[in-house]
Amino acid sequence: MKHLLSISDLTRDELFEILKLAEKLKEERYRGIVTDYLKNKSLAMIFELPSTRTRVSFEVAMSDLGGHALYLGWNELQLGRGEPIKDTARVLSRYVHAIMLRVRDHSTIEEFARYSSIPVINGLSNLEHPCQVIADLLTIYEYRGDFRDVTLAWVGDGNNVCNSLILASALTGMRMIVSTPENYEPDSGIMQKARELGGEIIFERDPVKAVGEADVIYTDVWTSMGQEGEKEERLTAFKGYQISDELLSRSKDDVVVMHCLPAHRGEEITDEVIEGKHSIVFDQAENRLHAQKAILLKLIGKENEVY
Ligand code: CP
Ligand code: NVA
Repeated sequence: MKHLLSISDLTRDELFEILKLAEKLKEERYRGIVTDYLKNKSLAMIFELPSTRTRVSFEVAMSDLGGHALYLGWNELQLGRGEPIKDTARVLSRYVHAIMLRVRDHSTIEEFARYSSIPVINGLSNLEHPCQVIADLLTIYEYRGDFRDVTLAWVGDGNNVCNSLILASALTGMRMIVSTPENYEPDSGIMQKARELGGEIIFERDPVKAVGEADVIYTDVWTSMGQEGEKEERLTAFKGYQISDELLSRSKDDVVVMHCLPAHRGEEITDEVIEGKHSIVFDQAENRLHAQKAILLKLIGKENEVY
């Protein structure tokens, strides 16, 4: 039994198995093949924060695979009235086959996982967003064919998505340049873990220099969920880190631009760039669906049925 709280909960082999599986499931969907690999299986999805992509892609993934997903808003559960996490985890473990949670604090999902006897999946916490980066890796692989010769420049906030990408780059051998303003660097524990995994992570304060060598440029919002009170100071701190046509003109001609979405157009990225020829953000969003299926099959232990 395996949880997916951090992308580094997966070994390199497991990560590549999930990516291969996602490719296969994508192809099956395109060919209109009806599958029931998760027939009679249920997924509980607990959301403490809003979601479009994570919610819909997990729900459709379960339905495409012949299973069932339950959307559970935190405050509609007894959790919202103070029922302990440890009780909720043990009760849900008796009903469903996997639980996905989106939480404010990473410690909440860690506690949940400690008491759950079924797989727990992190659908975003303040520390990591592993399901997002699995879809991102699938997208990078589709556009670049490999990870070894790829340089990804992260420009903006060293947030949850950045943290998971750092670990993912260490697992896949992708080179990563991280460009953030001072005091907005990624989590130090994550950096330590990435180094232990042999990751090549380079810090470059200047976004122009960072994108100069990039094959992939990735950004995300400057103010993540739960940080709304810091919005004004963040707008000031991140000046100069916007992905604009001007910044792109300093990068390679065939560079691709990624964003996990939702985007704040006019802040971390311009409207022109999202709508422009370098942007692959909607392929990336689509891949959430194929990746979730592979994650579910792997964690529920049904991946062998696909082959
Ligand atoms: N990228 C992502 O996780 O989007 P949602 O917040 O819409 O789920
Ligand atoms: N960093 C963003 C990602 C949203 C999908 C947030 O945590 O709000």
